[in-house]
Amino acid sequence: MKIAIGNDHAAGELKDVIMELILSMGHELTDVGAAAGEAVDYPIPGEKVARLVAAGDADLGVLICGTGVGISLAANKVKGIRAAAVSDTATARLIREHNNANVIAIGARIVGSELAKDIIKTFLTTPFSGEERHQRRIDMISAVEENFGK
Ligand code: RB5
Repeated sequence: MKIAIGNDHAAGELKDVIMELILSMGHELTDVGAAAGEAVDYPIPGEKVARLVAAGDADLGVLICGTGVGISLAANKVKGIRAAAVSDTATARLIREHNNANVIAIGARIVGSELAKDIIKTFLTTPFSGEERHQRRIDMISAVEENFGK
């Protein structure tokens, strides 16, 4: 798969660990995040990764900031993005099976590197269940997006 990754300055070290993992799994990686020592406001990589996924230039996105929350909020403003901030492997599995999440966000100040690797591995290897009730609910989310402001 093609994976897009982005991070702010709170997450440089964890980003390197996650990039190594993703590459070792055989995926292609596009890094639009902060370089080591560079200060970047989290909405910037959040939007960049989201746009790559929404355009189909990446299959899934991985975001890392201090908590995972700010960067996921930014990504969710891009149409077609279902991003979730996750701190455990069960949620990483369920956001794929039930929500068909296309972006995951993790907090470098919240989650240790071993757990972060398990979370990302789970996210990247779990397919959407395709069950009708889950698709119907995802379609309802898309309808909210379509009708926003009307
Ligand atoms: C940056 O200090 C921090 O606010 C950011 O990484 C993130 O935690 C925001 O949600």
